[in-house]
Amino acid sequence: MKYTFVLIGIWLLSFSGLAQELTSPNQDLKMKFSLNENGTPVYQLTYKNQDVIKPSTLGLELKNDDLSLMNSFEIVDTKTSTFDETWEPVWGEQSEIRNHYNELAVTLNQPQKDRKIIIRFRLFDEGLGFRYEFPEQKNLVYFVIKEEHTQFAMAGDHTAFWIPGDYDTQEYDYTTSKLSEISAEFEGALSHNESQEQFSKTGVQTSLMMKSEDGLYINLHEAALKEYSLMNLNLDEENLVFESWLTPDALGNKGFLQAPTTSPWRTIMVSNDATDILASNMTLNLNEPNVIEDTSYIKPIKYIGVWWEMITGKSAWNYTDDLPSIRIGETDFTKAKPNGRHAANTEHVKEYIDFASEHGFDGVLVEGWNQGWEDWYGHSKDFVFDFVTPYPDFDVEEIHNYAASKNVKMIMHHETSGAIRNYERHMDTAYAFMNKYDYPAVKSGYVGNIIPRGEHHYGQWAINHFLYAVQKAADYNIMVNAHEAVRPTGLRRTYPNLIGNESARGTEFQAFGGNKPNHVTILPFTRLIGGPMDYTPGIFEMDISKLNPGNNSHVNSTLANQLALYVTMYSPLQMAADLPENYMRFPDAFQFIKDVAVDWEESKYLEAEPGQYITVARKAKGTNNWFVGNVNGVTPRTTTIKLDFLEKGKKYIATIYADAEDAHYKTNPQAYKITTKTVTSRTKLKLDSAPAGGFAISIIEKK
Ligand code: NOJ
Ligand code: CA
Repeated sequence: MKYTFVLIGIWLLSFSGLAQELTSPNQDLKMKFSLNENGTPVYQLTYKNQDVIKPSTLGLELKNDDLSLMNSFEIVDTKTSTFDETWEPVWGEQSEIRNHYNELAVTLNQPQKDRKIIIRFRLFDEGLGFRYEFPEQKNLVYFVIKEEHTQFAMAGDHTAFWIPGDYDTQEYDYTTSKLSEISAEFEGALSHNESQEQFSKTGVQTSLMMKSEDGLYINLHEAALKEYSLMNLNLDEENLVFESWLTPDALGNKGFLQAPTTSPWRTIMVSNDATDILASNMTLNLNEPNVIEDTSYIKPIKYIGVWWEMITGKSAWNYTDDLPSIRIGETDFTKAKPNGRHAANTEHVKEYIDFASEHGFDGVLVEGWNQGWEDWYGHSKDFVFDFVTPYPDFDVEEIHNYAASKNVKMIMHHETSGAIRNYERHMDTAYAFMNKYDYPAVKSGYVGNIIPRGEHHYGQWAINHFLYAVQKAADYNIMVNAHEAVRPTGLRRTYPNLIGNESARGTEFQAFGGNKPNHVTILPFTRLIGGPMDYTPGIFEMDISKLNPGNNSHVNSTLANQLALYVTMYSPLQMAADLPENYMRFPDAFQFIKDVAVDWEESKYLEAEPGQYITVARKAKGTNNWFVGNVNGVTPRTTTIKLDFLEKGKKYIATIYADAEDAHYKTNPQAYKITTKTVTSRTKLKLDSAPAGGFAISIIEKK
């Protein structure tokens, strides 16, 4: 393992009032820190001498504390250092990651109470991370956060790509507006979810992407969210100042802390090139190194599932329609009348296993296999699933043996319907059951309001649970893909068995009325900053009424755009989400999904503009093969891409899957053309993308 490590500690004695300065390794970013006349911490950030964050205050308001950690500080110590290390992720967009930053740690004391905090700043070439640290001390041990008051004073009325601030869900379409227009657009930005709670008409979520009038791309997010509540942002629209707004518990408290501890990192990325935001590893680098010793069971997965047919309403998760209420272990399902629409039945699952095996997929996900789906949400039902008891038509043993004989792994599904304690009660037996039947990964889900009532998906209590589920899974050598859990903040570095999250509006919403046509040109700038998304791409039939006549939804994407998602939406877990019969209608296009890799040695972000287009090239790990993806917004576009990332002197066969001339996401989504040509590092390709279209290219070395 290549590992370079430099740590230079410089001890600086400093004086309150004098600004401390920190510069990024490439000198483009400058951060200034000082205390104002009230002893309140203030920081500001510039990029190539342009303001990114104007002077902004820092602090925490504590419950039952007359002083809080807001003011009356004096600087007692500052330390600067430099760090430069290259590390290897277990899986990822690239096989080596450089972690290079300059650091300033400021120790502050409140003389009235004699208590200290440290604010630690890390300045990378692409942005700033900082956090609050609470060292061990006599006068600050247990404390309750009433609110965190971290400000981000924006330097202009930027264009923002935002979703409403919410304590429970991120499953919203993005709205593009000026910062000053957020409150006016807020109502229109809302859509229904089984669990949701907004808190302010100027509240938005992170990762928040912005673009300034003079072309600066700015991104606000957080890294390493653990034992703390999620941060939303609330905007003072008049002054264009964002302030942190944490998620409360059922009683309104925003976090119970015990020193020594730290807050998560607050992150500000900035560049005048949008591709730098996509290429940044800052969020990962601000997380702790991997703690899982044996990572041999952690493997990227390409999978199919008995899933889309339920999401579209073609078939059902539940076994019977005749039981208004069920009790696991007591209800006798062998006496219940089957509804004839239950998809998770042995014969049908075997068809999926056959399909997976024939086309080289690693796994098959099956939802609705276990008892409880008849009354699974909306009833405050705590004992809702036990995660080990199948319906009578799902033969676990037989399916296990059949899958093993076909060299396919089954992927487990644990829907909790927000009954977190119930899941924890059953977790050991549920994971042991997975080990027994050789399930390497679980998709978990948290639909509906959290039980106990009043707790939120993004509060400290639920966040502790989500991590507990991942840590516990590691004890059983299990990989986790959690839906409706808190959005990622780079924890995959520390726990690489966390191979996926949903935590955004995924493909499922294409069957619930549709996503905005430019959705996938925004997600990599927002939700994916924290980590991979189980977006579940690969839909070939855009007219959902063809699957279920009662569902008029339309998938707002061309078929070529669906292919490109396997490259543009990085994930070590990629689903081919459509029905096998739809793939068999377009076997030549399906070939790309079969060929595309899920683990990468290198990634090149060729061009990008949030809301408009993204073009990415990635080199498959352990090969000389590349895959390129382009997703386009609503304006038709022609682009020329240079293949100068290919090895010089080598020849490759490029297979280009592009929108046909008359393709359009609404009127003609399945119009694509496939061309093949020999290419080298000197080749330039001129390609067209339709509205919500794109292209996908496989570039295979000629041997
Ligand atoms: C919501 C998840 O996002 C979806 O993938 C799943 O099928 C349903 N919940 C049922 O668990
Ligand atoms: Ca979901």
